Amino acid sequence: LDNGLARTPPMGWLTWERFRCNMDCVNDPDNCISENLMKAMADRLADGWLRRARIQVGDRGPWKGVRISLVRCWGTKTRKINSYLYVIVDDCWLNSTRDAEGRLQPDKDRFPGGMAALGDYIHGRGLLYGIYEDIGSETCAGYPGLQGHFQLDAQTFAEWGADYLKIDGCNERRADLPEDHAAFGAELAALERPIVYSCEWPFYELGPHNYTAIAATCNLWRNTHDVQDHWESVVSIARLYSLLEAEQFQFAGPGGWFDPDMLIIGDFGLTLAQSRVQMALWAIWAAPLIMSNDLRAISAEAAAILQNADVIAVDQDELGVMGRLKVQQGDDAQLWARPVLPRAGDATSCAVAAVNYGDSATELSFTPALAGCAEAAGGYRVRELYSGADGGLVQPGDTITASLPPTDALIYTLTAQ
Ligand code: GLA
Repeated sequence: LDNGLARTPPMGWLTWERFRCNMDCVNDPDNCISENLMKAMADRLADGWLRRARIQVGDRGPWKGVRISLVRCWGTKTRKINSYLYVIVDDCWLNSTRDAEGRLQPDKDRFPGGMAALGDYIHGRGLLYGIYEDIGSETCAGYPGLQGHFQLDAQTFAEWGADYLKIDGCNERRADLPEDHAAFGAELAALERPIVYSCEWPFYELGPHNYTAIAATCNLWRNTHDVQDHWESVVSIARLYSLLEAEQFQFAGPGGWFDPDMLIIGDFGLTLAQSRVQMALWAIWAAPLIMSNDLRAISAEAAAILQNADVIAVDQDELGVMGRLKVQQGDDAQLWARPVLPRAGDATSCAVAAVNYGDSATELSFTPALAGCAEAAGGYRVRELYSGADGGLVQPGDTITASLPPTDALIYTLTAQ
């Protein structure tokens, strides 16, 4: 969607996968969907995560960029690095009815300060505010949907200070999805407030999908089933993207991204090795990096994977090219690659993810040429981004061997010289 937003994939935190529709604030006050939960996560993001992104940048000069986080300058020796900025409440924030004027309203017990005050709080912490709704008559959990109220609801979200809307597709006729998403998008476009438009439209539609229309309407769009907190779920999304990548990649780019759903790193289901797989794939796919985890209780090791500035830089690369599947070795080993900046001469650098879904260790060998890296006369400087290991200088035909433990990934940058 050409609305000036999401020029790189959005990054943030979302309630759904971890906290679901927990409404029991009496017995489970720390984990129920409420303004307190949102504030607690905003505090974690602002106090730890944003600050850490700045420190990483400061430590790493000299870099040419001058933007970190949103638009913060750190002298002249910083590079741009985006961070997890959108704090998004998913389903189950709503009251079961609209108010007397027909406006949406939150559950008063769990959001006693109201949605605008919550937005103020999140903005006050230097973050951005996201809200979930549904294009149909009801949300998936059965709360009032947008249907019949597009203009009023768009205005309400703007008044509340929303920066991002996740719009689901439950309780809507499939045939109406294109027209209704476009109609609600037109209401968003008429607002003065810029709002990222996240759609679930292709997820609810039987294929083939009209990605031209979807990409013209939405800033990001879900096209997989819901991620669950286990390894098989991540693998099934990867297998689906392996089938679809040739059809998909051309529609992704600045302003419009395929959304393979939330990062579950830091939850219960993935080992650290499997977390590296999810992070590497999402980065190579130029996917939105929207976590759903408990930032109050996340391990340092999981946080380090999510905060790896080099992997984030691959995801957030400004060329915005979605990675392609380059090698499938047996059932379980894959090589994915995408072009990234910087350019040297005519050559663009590239990022390569080597992934092993299997239960046995394996080796995957590739050349820069096989990975589809643009020809670089001076070769490429190779770096593995999880270990930081310098792989030296290689030429287009030289072999790089990725030694992959079971269910693990390596991710490299090959920087054109
Ligand atoms: C659907 C979506 C999920 C979540 C739930 C909320 O299943 O795909 O991401 O928003 O609805 O009910």
